[in-house]
Amino acid sequence: MMSSGVTLPSGHTRIDSAEMRNIVKRFPGVLANDHVNFDVKAGEIHALLGENGAGKSTLMKILYGLYHPDEGEILINGRPVRLESPSDALAQGIGMIHQHFMLVQTLTVAENVALGMQPAGTVLNLAEVRERLLELSAIYGLKVNPDAYIWQLSVGEQQRVEIIKALYRGGALIILDEPTAVLTPQEVDELFSTLRQMRDQGHALIFISHKLYEVQALCDRITVMRDGRVVDTVPNNGIEQRTLARMMVGRDVKLQPDRPEVQPGEVRLALENLTVLSDQGLPALQGVSLNVRAGEIVGIAGVSGNGQRELAESIAGLRPVSGGAIRLAGREISHAPVSERLAAGLSFIPEERNRHGTISVFTVAENLILQTHASEPFARGIFLDFGAIAAHTRGLINRFNIKTPSAETPVKNLSGGNVQKLILARELSRQPVVLIASQPTRGVDISATEYIRQVLMEQRSAGVAILLISEDLDEIMALSDRIVVLYEGQIMGELAREEADVETLGLMMAGSTLEQARAHAGAWGDI
Ligand SMILES: Nc1ncnc2c1ncn2[C@@H]1O[C@H](COP(=O)(O)OP(=O)(O)O)[C@@H](O)[C@H]1O
Ligand SMILES: [Mg+2]
Repeated sequence: MMSSGVTLPSGHTRIDSAEMRNIVKRFPGVLANDHVNFDVKAGEIHALLGENGAGKSTLMKILYGLYHPDEGEILINGRPVRLESPSDALAQGIGMIHQHFMLVQTLTVAENVALGMQPAGTVLNLAEVRERLLELSAIYGLKVNPDAYIWQLSVGEQQRVEIIKALYRGGALIILDEPTAVLTPQEVDELFSTLRQMRDQGHALIFISHKLYEVQALCDRITVMRDGRVVDTVPNNGIEQRTLARMMVGRDVKLQPDRPEVQPGEVRLALENLTVLSDQGLPALQGVSLNVRAGEIVGIAGVSGNGQRELAESIAGLRPVSGGAIRLAGREISHAPVSERLAAGLSFIPEERNRHGTISVFTVAENLILQTHASEPFARGIFLDFGAIAAHTRGLINRFNIKTPSAETPVKNLSGGNVQKLILARELSRQPVVLIASQPTRGVDISATEYIRQVLMEQRSAGVAILLISEDLDEIMALSDRIVVLYEGQIMGELAREEADVETLGLMMAGSTLEQARAHAGAWGDI
């Protein structure tokens, strides 16, 4: 074992090991951490995996000095330490990147990094800060412009600023609390390469997540938490996702729902040579034609940014169609207002649930009747029938297993999985003819994913025509009867469920036609 006192390339003393022993933390009515043991070493990425409410953030806030444990101790390089506040943690070389960034939008990157680091009475030398930032960004491959204002940066770039801020402050051990929740898949790849670089430079990293594939792709060891306790700590070599899922949830999880035999019925959604423009006015969909029949799930596979968003929005009536036609149950709705599409039996689970799916300051009950509030049985003339509304929302909360303290809780207080269940409940309570499900399980935890997939399958059995748009190939394969691949706004081909495999789909998602992908896959098969 290396002795302590070794310095990192960032110029700070490294942490060879940090250990949390028998940590207990109680909140009123909740045992958030129940005798937790956890440790992390220099040169490793240690995953803290668990569902919402498992106690991950609480444990890490204790390590960062934000919370004080009721019992237990923390050792750095084998020596017990007291962490009364984040400044104590920082002094020990511990940094934390929170789920919600703590940057001042109207200041530059350099100013944000320097903020709070300035001893009283001294003059801030921004030139020095800038120089140091550029040094760090070179060492760790973190692209940041010290002079950019935070408001000018994308979410991914702001996260980079948070990371570089933690490095600047001497973070030898850095905790990242669900850092991928806000990122696009491309940004996730970039983050992972930065984190690997940090690990290889001798940092100790703790990566909090509830996503199995991320943890498998990135981490050296995995600690699974459930209900405030550590289930186990395992090395990440060949452990199966289903095993991790079982540890996390405490029972077997079925991410691939049973698929009852359903005879598809009539065409309910027809796209004919559809052309749609992007926000920039460029062609986002170029002559897309496809059908979805009653009792069938058609999956749209593709890397995001290839027209999926525009496809969903144009069907939902949120984006104009510039050519071609959309038919819903035989009726042309290409230019119909949203209300008319809803009345015709369209339901939509949008990709951005906080922007299009819900009104976050409204209550659960209000969100559950967003589109139907003006019609019977909730309204008679200009009066709302609160009794009918209350009975309806209670029923949906129970049926869709929405975990909320009450129907009057604002939606902003719900976890992502429960917001998604709420949208599903509202959209399905209207008994749709056609359902557009856009990234229905993105960012939700594993039991909510299991539940949502099962509900989609039930809707298929009930004869709904479902268009499933997902970047998650596992999800596409788990649910779809037919799979259509979208690339640069065009359909590269269509496969029946039985003939689809990950390799062929992957090639098509990168721009091969079905024929090319098959020839390629075939060529590999001959070797
Ligand atoms: N500040 C707090 N006050 C009261 N209860 C809290 C507080 N922080 C967390 N909890 C509760 O502790 C439990 C663990 O929460 P948390 O550590 O945030 O879980 P995770 O990060 O794994 O989702 C949850 O039941 C949560 O409601
Ligand atoms: Mg958390």
